[in-house]
Amino acid sequence: MTGKIVILTGAGISAESGLGTFRDKDGLWTRYDLEDVATPEGFHRNPDLVQSFYNARRANAAGASPNAAHTALARLERDHPGEVVIVTQNVDNLHERAGSRNVLHMHGELAGALCAACGARWTAPPEMHNDDPCPACKAPATRPDVVWFGEIPYHMDTIWEHLATADLFASIGTSGEVYPAAAFVQEAARNGAHTIEINLEPSATVSDFAETCFGPASQTVPQWVEAELDRHR
Ligand code: APR
Repeated sequence: MTGKIVILTGAGISAESGLGTFRDKDGLWTRYDLEDVATPEGFHRNPDLVQSFYNARRANAAGASPNAAHTALARLERDHPGEVVIVTQNVDNLHERAGSRNVLHMHGELAGALCAACGARWTAPPEMHNDDPCPACKAPATRPDVVWFGEIPYHMDTIWEHLATADLFASIGTSGEVYPAAAFVQEAARNGAHTIEINLEPSATVSDFAETCFGPASQTVPQWVEAELDRHR
C-alpha cells in the first residue's frame, strides 16, 4: 500500500516530446506576449491572434508523441490502481495518450472548445475561428477551452481534496512561477506528504521540497517510478 500519490506536471514533462515550454530561454513567452495570447483582455483585443496561437499549438500537440516520462507515470498508475492522480498544468493530451486515466487539466485542454456566450463545451476542431457557431446556442463566440491568466483554474476543489490526503507529492517539469499550482507543495507537506521536485533545474519553489532530482524528465521520471515500484513490491 503506497498511499495516495499526487503528481503535478508542467510544460517540462512535454519538452522532450517537442512541445515548447514557456519560460526557458526559447520558451513561448520569449516569442509571444502572454498578455496578448493568454488573457481574456488579449482575446477581446485581437481574437484572431489568439485563435491562430492556439491553432498552431493544437497542431503541434497533435503531431507530438508521449515520451518515456509520460509512459512511466501511466505505468505507476496501472501498478497502483486508484492511488495515483496527475494534476497537469499542460493543455496537451500526452498523459492520456501514454495511458494515464486519472488526469486533471487545471488549465484546460487544447482539445476543448468553449462557447464564450453560453458556456457550452465540445471537442475543438483542428482549426478554430471566432465566428465558428456554438453547436448549442449558435452564437459566433467560440474560444479555446483553456484557462487564461486572471481566470479560475479548473478542478480546484478536487485538487485541494487530493492534496489534503496525499502521502506523496511529486512535481515534474514546472518552474513553480504560477499560482495556485506553485503552492501545492506546501499544502501537501502541511498535510504530511513526502514531497519531491523532479525538474531539469531547481524551480522557484525548490526549497519547499523534501527531496529533489534534476535532469531531463525522460530519464529522471522512469528512474523515480522504478524506485517507487521497487519500494512497494
Ligand atoms: N525535463 C524536465 N524539466 C524540464 C525539461 C525537461 N526535458 N525541460 C524544461 N524543464 C523545466 C524547466 O527547467 C522549467 O522549470 O520545465 C519547467 C518549465 O517551466 P515553464 O516554462 O514556466 O512551464 P510551466 O511551469 O508549466 O508553466 C506554468 O504558466 O504560462 C503558464 O499556463 C501556462 O501552464 C503554464 C504555467
